[in-house]
Amino acid sequence: MRVIGIESSAHTFGVGIVDDGKILAKEKEMFHIGTTGMIPAEVAEFHTDNAAEVINRALKSANLNYSDIEGIGYTRGPGLGPCLQVGYLSAKTLAKKLKVPIAPVNHGVAHIESTRLISGMKDPIALYVSGGNSQILKMDNKPFKHYRVLGETFDIGVGNMLDSFARELKLTPSWGSSIEKKASGGKYVEMPYSVKGMDFSFTGLLTKAVSMIPDVPAKDLCFSIQEAAFSMLAETTERALLLTNSDEICVCGGVAQNSRLKQILNLVAKEHGARFGFIEGALNADNGAMIAMVAERMLLAGHSTSIDKCDIEQRFRVDSAEVF
Ligand code: FE2
Repeated sequence: MRVIGIESSAHTFGVGIVDDGKILAKEKEMFHIGTTGMIPAEVAEFHTDNAAEVINRALKSANLNYSDIEGIGYTRGPGLGPCLQVGYLSAKTLAKKLKVPIAPVNHGVAHIESTRLISGMKDPIALYVSGGNSQILKMDNKPFKHYRVLGETFDIGVGNMLDSFARELKLTPSWGSSIEKKASGGKYVEMPYSVKGMDFSFTGLLTKAVSMIPDVPAKDLCFSIQEAAFSMLAETTERALLLTNSDEICVCGGVAQNSRLKQILNLVAKEHGARFGFIEGALNADNGAMIAMVAERMLLAGHSTSIDKCDIEQRFRVDSAEVF
C-alpha cells in the first residue's frame, strides 16, 4: 500500500512515502534553531511555507503522482500544537482531495516501530531517547497492544539536557553532535548519577556540569556529561532487559545517532547474549517515513480514522497509543 506520512511535531517538516514497508522517499525541511530555542508560532510558519514543496519533492523522488497515493498518515502528537497543526491540516487536505483513508500516528510509536521493523527485531526493550523524551519501553498486549513505559526521566529528556549544556558552552548546532565531537579525548570528572529503579533524572547532572564551566576543560565536561548520562540509560535498560527476560535491545530517537551511546548499549547487549538493534543516523531524527510506516500498518489492519474525527494531541503519550 503506497502511504505518505507527514511529520511536523517540532522543528522538522518531514514527508515520507512507503510501500509494503519499503521507504520510497524521505524528504524534509528543518527550521534552524538559533541560540534561543524554538518559538512554536515561528516554526509553524516555517512549516506552512515549506509543506507543499516538501510533499511534491517526496512524490518526485518516489517517482509517483498524487493519484498513486493510497493512504495518508500524520503525527497526531506529542509535539508543539502550532507545528502539529500544520502537518495535520496538510494530511487532512490531501486525504480529502485524494479520497484515501487517513491514520493519526503517535510520534514515539513511529520512532520505536520504524527502528524495530527496519532492524528486524521482534519484541525488543526499546530505549527511546530524543530532545523531549527519554523512556524505556516494551510491548504489552493488555488491555490493548501498546508500548508500556518501564522507566523514564523524572525531569527533562537527555537530548534537551545535552542541548542546554552545549548552549552554555556556546557550541554550534547541531548541539548533540558538537558535544560528541568535543568529547573526543576528554577525561572523566566526577558527575552526579541519578537512577531510581528504571527511572532516571538529568537536571542535577546539567546543573553540576554547567557550574564547572570554565574551570574544567570543555572536552572533559563533554566527555563526562555523556558518560554519566549514557551510563544511567544503559544501567536502566539493562535492568529492564533482565526483569523482562528479553533478548533484544533497540535504541531510537534523535540521541540514538550518538556513537558512544550505541557503543555502551552494544556492550550491555553482548554481556547478556542479547541482540542490539539500531537504524542509520538520519532515520533516528524526526522524519516522515517513520510516520508513513506506522500509518501503513494501521491502514492495512483496517484502522483508519474518519477525516472529521482526526485531531492533534499535544500530550499524546506513547503508552496510550494502540500499535498494529
Ligand atoms: Fe522525535
